[in-house]
Amino acid sequence: MTATRSSLSTLFLALLAPATLHIPTHAIAAGVNGSGIPGSTEMIELGKQWQVMNASPAKQRGRDRFNQNKYGMFIHWGLYSQCGGIWKGKRMEDGGTGPKVAEWIMRRKEIPRAEYAKLAQTFNPTKFNADQWVAIAKAAGMRYMVITSKHHDGFALFDSKTSDFNVVRATPFKRDIIRELEQACQKEGIAFGVYYSHALDWRDGGDSGMKDYCIHEKPQQSFFPNYFDPAPVRFDDYIQNKSLPQVRELLANYNLTEMWLDTPIYIPPKHSFAFYETIYTANPEILVNQRIGNGFGDIGTPGDNVIPDEASENTWEGIATTNNSWGYKSYDNDWKSPEETLFWLLENVSKGGNFLLNVGPDGTGTIPPASVKNLLAVGKWLEINGDAIYGTKPWKITHEGPTSIAMKGTEHRSKNKTQFSASSDDFWFTQKAGKIFCIAIARPDGNSVAIRSLKGVPIAGIRLLGKNAPVQWTEAEKTIDVQLPPFTTETSGYALEITMQEQESGDRSRQRD
Ligand code: GLC
Repeated sequence: MTATRSSLSTLFLALLAPATLHIPTHAIAAGVNGSGIPGSTEMIELGKQWQVMNASPAKQRGRDRFNQNKYGMFIHWGLYSQCGGIWKGKRMEDGGTGPKVAEWIMRRKEIPRAEYAKLAQTFNPTKFNADQWVAIAKAAGMRYMVITSKHHDGFALFDSKTSDFNVVRATPFKRDIIRELEQACQKEGIAFGVYYSHALDWRDGGDSGMKDYCIHEKPQQSFFPNYFDPAPVRFDDYIQNKSLPQVRELLANYNLTEMWLDTPIYIPPKHSFAFYETIYTANPEILVNQRIGNGFGDIGTPGDNVIPDEASENTWEGIATTNNSWGYKSYDNDWKSPEETLFWLLENVSKGGNFLLNVGPDGTGTIPPASVKNLLAVGKWLEINGDAIYGTKPWKITHEGPTSIAMKGTEHRSKNKTQFSASSDDFWFTQKAGKIFCIAIARPDGNSVAIRSLKGVPIAGIRLLGKNAPVQWTEAEKTIDVQLPPFTTETSGYALEITMQEQESGDRSRQRD
C-alpha cells in the first residue's frame, strides 16, 4: 500500500479550483456535491469569486492552524442520543430505509415530526460536563473539536432565536451546550468548530430541494429527505428562514474555527455560495468543509469512514467513528482498539490529512467509557510521539509494510468484521522542519528493524522519540537497519526521528532518487 507523492491523488481536486471544475463526476452523479453543472456560467462565475476568498491570507492562517492541530474530536449528540438506536423496541437494523447509524432514527423509522419533537421534553443530560469532555479530548491528544450544533433532525444544541426547537427553549435542561463547550475549549486551548446540517433538515427542510433542484430522473440519494411527513415549505424558504439564519447566529455568537456543513444532496450553487460568503464575511479564518456543496469548501473529505488510497497536498480531513455509528448506539460494542485508532490516524496524517474521530455521548451526557479508554491509550502514545504527528506533512513515501486495510464506508468495516493487527514491518512516514519521522504501531520481537524506504536517505542521526540518546543504525544492501533501545513505556509502537546531513528535507524537489 505504498503511495508516492509522484502519484498525488486527484481525489480532492474539487477543492483546488471549482472555476475549472475538477469535481469528480461520480460525485455529481450521486448528487453528493450539489446540483451545479460543471462548466456552466453560474459555476464558473461563482467559482471565480470563491477562489479569491479561498486564496486569501486569512484562510491561509486558518489552514496553517488546522494543519498544526492534525487530530480532533468529532461529537454527534442530540435528541436521538436518548434512543441509543432503538425505537419502540426495534433496532436500527430491524427494518426501514437509509443508513443504520443511530442519529438517523427519525428518518429510518419514519417518526412523524410532532412525535419526534417529544424527545425534547425528556432531554435532560444532567451528567453533561463540558470541562470533562474537553479534558478527555485533551488527554486523548486531540487539538480541536467539532460538535453537531444541528443534525438532520433539525434540533439545535444552541440558543436560537430562529427556531425554538433548541436545547435552551424546548428542553428541561435549558443549557446552551454549544456555549459551554466553546468556553471549555477556549480555556484549554482546543480549537472549536461546529457541524451544521444545512441542506438536510427532516423537521423544517421540506423535500431538501429534490423537486426544485434534482436534475436526475432517478435521484441517487432519494432516501435522504423526509418524504413521510415533510414540512410544507419550499427548500429555498427553509434556506432563507432557518438554515442561513442559524448559521449566522452561530457565527455571531460563538468563537469558531471550523464550520462543518453536511449532506449537500442537490443544493444549488447559489445556496452553497451564499453559505461560503456568509461565513467568510463573518470571519475569513473559519474553514468550511467540502460538504457545503458544489466545490465551495476549504477542507476536503474522503468520505465517512474512508481512508484515501493516496496522499494529497490539499487541505483535507479524514473522518471516522469509534464504533460503527456516529450517534450513540447502545448495542454497538464494536470499538476500534487503540492500535486500530492509531492506524487510522497514521493513514490520514501520512497522506497529508487531519483526522477527526467521532464519539457519541448517550442521553445522559456520558461519552461511552469504552471509547474513552481507547482514546486515552492513543493519547498516551501521542504524549511521547506527538512530534511525529502535529504540524507534519507527507513525505515522499507514506507507508511500507504488509498491512493494508480497505476502509470504504461506515458499514464496510462492520460488514467485513475487520480484526486489526499491524506488523513490526509496517512503517508510516511524515516530515517536518527538515526531519523525517518513521512511525510503527507494533514493536519487533528482538530489538532490530529493517526499513526499506530510508535506503538512500542521507541520514545524519536517528533518535527514538521519548529518549534522549541517539539510536544505532547501519546501512544494509536494501535497507537501513536500526537497533532499538529497550522500551520503557507500555504504549504500542514507537516513532523514530531522522535528521539528515546538510538538513536535506526529503522534499520531492530535493530528493536524490
Ligand atoms: C453523513 C451522515 C451523518 C453523519 C455524517 C458524518 O453525512 O448523514 O449522519 O453526521 O455523515 O460525517
